[in-house]
Amino acid sequence: MLVPEWRPALAAAHDAALDWLEGLPDRSVGPDVDYDAMYAALSEPMPEAGVPAERVISELAATLKPGLMAFNHGRFFGWVIGGAMPAGVAADWLVAAWDQNTAMAEPTPGVSALEAVTAEWLLELLDLPRTSSVAFVTGAQVANLVCLAAARGRVLAEAGWDVEADGLVGAPPVTVLAGEFVHHTVGKAVRILGLGERRMVEVEADANARMRPEALAEALMTVEGPVIVCAQAGEIATGGIDPLGAIASVVDARRPDAPTWLHVDGAIGLFGRASRVLAPKFAGAERADSWCTDAHKWLNTPYDCGIAIVRDREAHHRAMTLHASYLPQPGAARDPIDWNPEMSRRARATAVYATLRSLGREGVAEIAERDCEMAQLLAEGVRMIPGAEVCNHVELNQVLVRLHDPAGLDDDAHTRAALARLQASGVAFPSGTTFRGRAAIRFSIVNWATDESDIAETLEALADAHARWG
Ligand SMILES: Cc1ncc(COP(=O)(O)O)c(C=O)c1O
Repeated sequence: MLVPEWRPALAAAHDAALDWLEGLPDRSVGPDVDYDAMYAALSEPMPEAGVPAERVISELAATLKPGLMAFNHGRFFGWVIGGAMPAGVAADWLVAAWDQNTAMAEPTPGVSALEAVTAEWLLELLDLPRTSSVAFVTGAQVANLVCLAAARGRVLAEAGWDVEADGLVGAPPVTVLAGEFVHHTVGKAVRILGLGERRMVEVEADANARMRPEALAEALMTVEGPVIVCAQAGEIATGGIDPLGAIASVVDARRPDAPTWLHVDGAIGLFGRASRVLAPKFAGAERADSWCTDAHKWLNTPYDCGIAIVRDREAHHRAMTLHASYLPQPGAARDPIDWNPEMSRRARATAVYATLRSLGREGVAEIAERDCEMAQLLAEGVRMIPGAEVCNHVELNQVLVRLHDPAGLDDDAHTRAALARLQASGVAFPSGTTFRGRAAIRFSIVNWATDESDIAETLEALADAHARWG
């Protein structure tokens, strides 16, 4: 067997990773150069001869450094993105080194057992039905897809149709209902599953973008046959949490009449259930049939870790399982391949296991509680800036800000220009949106590293970006 030299390349990666991570507090949050500069820096003809691995790694790290976004910086507030922590990053290195194809328990007992234990921990931490099945997928997009595939199979089976065997042609129509502010990944999952994004029924939301249960009850009265209701625990702009208990009651009232499934997209908020302080905000979530969340958001694992959880294990299994004569035959152990859309994949639950073990419930809860406190602090500070408005009720970790044009001309243009100035300052990196037709700046506080000093610096930079108008 050829034995490569591991040490030089891994040592180069180790040095470059520490250079990046330890340098984070002192660098600009956003990238220093743009895509074109990065493309030019990387572009060269496909190499004919190979380059020593150590040189590849050290040159790669040096070239990419100015074009990297500091996602795991305490003042990164864009989209909804957590920052990786030491145990998770180190575990992810091991995942690459171990190179386990995490599909079957027999050839990969170590990482398969680790997935099973991590799944049990998550059900306990999130206080969801302990017999639920769990899949570790790339992100919440795929987690929504997996949950809705199980939902589609179950509601159609109850209507006498086997969608896994017979497909959708000729099947009874399945109607998907979701709040006005449902995340776009739910629509995409509906599209991929052949349920028709345009056929979705939109349910009216309140001022903080939460689905109104009374509106859901009304909408359900107009729909016959199998139904999937998609609720949300954490709206992308406002952080609004749908009234999950009331929604579950509306769904329960319909169940005796027709096949009905309740899914909760908890990509943003579900880890809040780890905190005894925050958990009441999510009361009723445990009554749903499926849940999606992202470890790479509020649990602060490295990227590539969404989680799909399904109460009805059989529906989940039927939607995702795969068997072939050339593979080890199913045994008593949990095979990851039964729950995921992928066949071959990396052992992504390892970073979740390591992060959960290093933080414990207390650590997960502390991050969630601190981020919510930081969101309140930021909102209070924004309200003190003349001409700045907090547009949402800050019930979780999202703060939506609009800046009024001091010249009284164009608030949208002024807000967007101030956002661009703030991002370019390198001090903080929120992202933008249009909420109810008005431009706004979104501060999403998901990071374990964000503290009071980050909020103070961000407020100063925001006030400055707002003041330098015209
Ligand atoms: C509510 C919600 N659902 C789903 C997603 C998709 O998550 P991912 O990017 O991990 O696929 C997001 C992303 O921000 C989200 O906010």
